Amino acid sequence: MPKVLISDSMSKIAQKIFEKNNISVDVKTGLSEEEIIKIIPEYDGMVVRSATKVTKKIIEAAKNLKVIGRAGAGVDNIDLPAAKEKNMIVMNTPGGNANATAEHAFALIMSVLRKVPYANETTHKGQWEKKNIKGTELTKKTLGIVGFGNVGVRLSNLVKGFDMKILVNSNSLESRKNEYPHVENTSFDDLIINSDIISFHCKAAADGKPILTKDHFKKMKPTTYIINAARGNIIDENDLNDALNEDLIAGAAVDVFSKEPAKENILFKNPKAILTPHIAASTTEASIAVAEMVANQISDFLLNGVKKNTV
Ligand code: MLT
Repeated sequence: MPKVLISDSMSKIAQKIFEKNNISVDVKTGLSEEEIIKIIPEYDGMVVRSATKVTKKIIEAAKNLKVIGRAGAGVDNIDLPAAKEKNMIVMNTPGGNANATAEHAFALIMSVLRKVPYANETTHKGQWEKKNIKGTELTKKTLGIVGFGNVGVRLSNLVKGFDMKILVNSNSLESRKNEYPHVENTSFDDLIINSDIISFHCKAAADGKPILTKDHFKKMKPTTYIINAARGNIIDENDLNDALNEDLIAGAAVDVFSKEPAKENILFKNPKAILTPHIAASTTEASIAVAEMVANQISDFLLNGVKKNTV
């Protein structure tokens, strides 16, 4: 009977699916790298979210491991070259949390444009800041979406009805642009120069270097808002902080950080930045969807050799 380790907390549905498929399953969360190294040789499959870092050392110790499943989209917590070297399959669950992430990006957009966190905080304190809070409307504005995978597409659909122009920067859009007549594919420079709101939904660069830095902020309108619910290392956080302080842009809303869990960060003290702790995908619905997808995919691989959503 194949054996699977679930090493991050996730919906119980994953465990139930493995049990139903006669796959032995252990749920052991919060383990250190050393603890995982000790037990991993027992397992044929491993399921993680983002907390477990599947390092080269873990992969090398995993003598029987055939598949690593990520309940989520990003696989930056898994050492992919090391897994490849050991012929291990790595799977993710694309689309499973795309709506949740797009809705959170939209919530960030509305929060930063209408100053909702500041309004909430001051109203709770009994200050009546009505005269000092003036928002910005979405209608007639240009939304720039960087990256047009499941999340970017979903966000573009969510804002239909707001009478916005939508610019997209995506290498893969050209071949499928007939499916998305409501957006316009353009260069990165054109997008950052002309957008009022720029929302990132792309992967981080392979070398981990930020794709948005000081020179880009200088090209933006001073009324631009930046939204990042993708990965923290996509934007240079020091440059973003400077751009906010120097009024090169109007505001930012960020769900992801270069170092997570983010216990300290240059943006923490910046009142023009709205921050959330990587919760874009954290909805009841998405947690169930990704757990269900990853458990079904791993079961199908271990029992029938079916490879789905491999990365
Ligand atoms: C993802 O990559 O799926 C999201 O960032 C959410 C998560 O970290 O699980």
